[in-house]
Amino acid sequence: MTGLAVELPIGTERLLLRPHRMDDLDDLVAFHGDPDVVRHVPWPVRDRAATEETLRVKLTQTELLAHGQWLVLAVDLRSTRTVIGEVLLKWASEGQGEIGFAFARPHQGQGYAAEAARAMLRLGFDVLGFHRIAAVVIDGNEASARLLGRLGFRQEARLVDGVHFKGAWATQLVFAMLEDEWRQVTTT
Ligand SMILES: CC(C)(COP(=O)(O)OP(=O)(O)OC[C@H]1O[C@@H](n2cnc3c(N)ncnc32)[C@H](O)[C@@H]1OP(=O)(O)O)[C@@H](O)C(=O)NCCC(=O)NCCS
Repeated sequence: MTGLAVELPIGTERLLLRPHRMDDLDDLVAFHGDPDVVRHVPWPVRDRAATEETLRVKLTQTELLAHGQWLVLAVDLRSTRTVIGEVLLKWASEGQGEIGFAFARPHQGQGYAAEAARAMLRLGFDVLGFHRIAAVVIDGNEASARLLGRLGFRQEARLVDGVHFKGAWATQLVFAMLEDEWRQVTTT
């Protein structure tokens, strides 16, 4: 499997998944600084300066050309042209991907995360040819586990105290979907 410059943006019914721009900063500050949004993700609560620093990195995360790279896309709500979240796809190793997502609180509970994640799964399985895509969730992140279940992921492992997370040991849940399972989800 060779790396690919991904064709962007990716359009869905209500969303546009696109590379970040510097003028996304105000929208990003709104959720990178929200303790509820970052509780179960590896980032700290970020102020404007820290969000700007991370945004500069995101500007470069637009392709998957080598193992270890993350594609990080802004989720732009077509109706308001606001960035309401972000979705991530990592090319972890040969045929293996990992997905991640974070959405601003006012835009949770409306199916946007599922819509964006499905587009990233389509990219991973149908375009890039991944064999397996995983997602790692901190135990207790019910919204994320529910979303993964809705998408058709299986929980395959529970790593007790698998990570030192924000100052304490935390249990990780490993979810995954195989290419065959994706085909079943998309044909039934
Ligand atoms: C994890 C996260 C992305 C899930 O977002 P979400 O908005 O709950 O997920 P969805 O887009 O699938 O929305 C589903 C909810 O919207 C509801 N919904 C409303 N309208 C809908 C529609 N048109 N289509 C689908 N679902 C809709 C569903 O009933 C569902 O509600 P429920 O979870 O109470 O059953 C979000 O909680 C988040 O950003 N958390 C903080 C960051 C984080 O922890 N990321 C994961 C790290 S592993």
